[in-house]
Amino acid sequence: MNLLLIGFMGVGKSTVAEKLAQTLAMPLIDLDALIEQRIGMPIKDYFEKFGETAFRQVETAVLQENLTIEAVIATGGGVVLKAFNRKLLQKHPRVVYLTASDQHIVQRLHNDQRNVRPLILEKTPEEILAIAKERESYYQEAATIVVDTSDKTPEAIVAEIKERLSLV
Ligand code: S3P
Repeated sequence: MNLLLIGFMGVGKSTVAEKLAQTLAMPLIDLDALIEQRIGMPIKDYFEKFGETAFRQVETAVLQENLTIEAVIATGGGVVLKAFNRKLLQKHPRVVYLTASDQHIVQRLHNDQRNVRPLILEKTPEEILAIAKERESYYQEAATIVVDTSDKTPEAIVAEIKERLSLV
């Protein structure tokens, strides 16, 4: 059985996925990394060249192809935008929605300059949080459990997920 992590940009999906995969001795799949392999360029460049709609098509294809693999799977923050993807996710019993306070989201995105996220380039904190609000019900719809990551270490988050999914 796989374990999927969903949630807005900056909530820590990749970090938590890596640690979960380690402690559960499961393979790790990072969908954004697989998408970049597939398109042969950074996601930001693909957005610029081909637009968001084309990116979402690749994202759905890569999601679908990897859902059957028994692994810890980190998704991109916009994977829930398509109703089709939400339906796919709902078929899986371990979909963990990671949340964070507004302050944490803004701070983490500000600190993470290495990962260039096209949808938030040149956006104000208020605009970024408005996108997060728009998506909130979509994450809820696809999730099995919701875990707030604010003020918690990755280790504590991993322990909480394991306990709540009875993986300990
Ligand atoms: C996106 C989130 C990104 C990446 C792309 C679009 C989004 O992934 O898939 O830039 O729409 O929220 P992370 O959530 O890992 O940053």
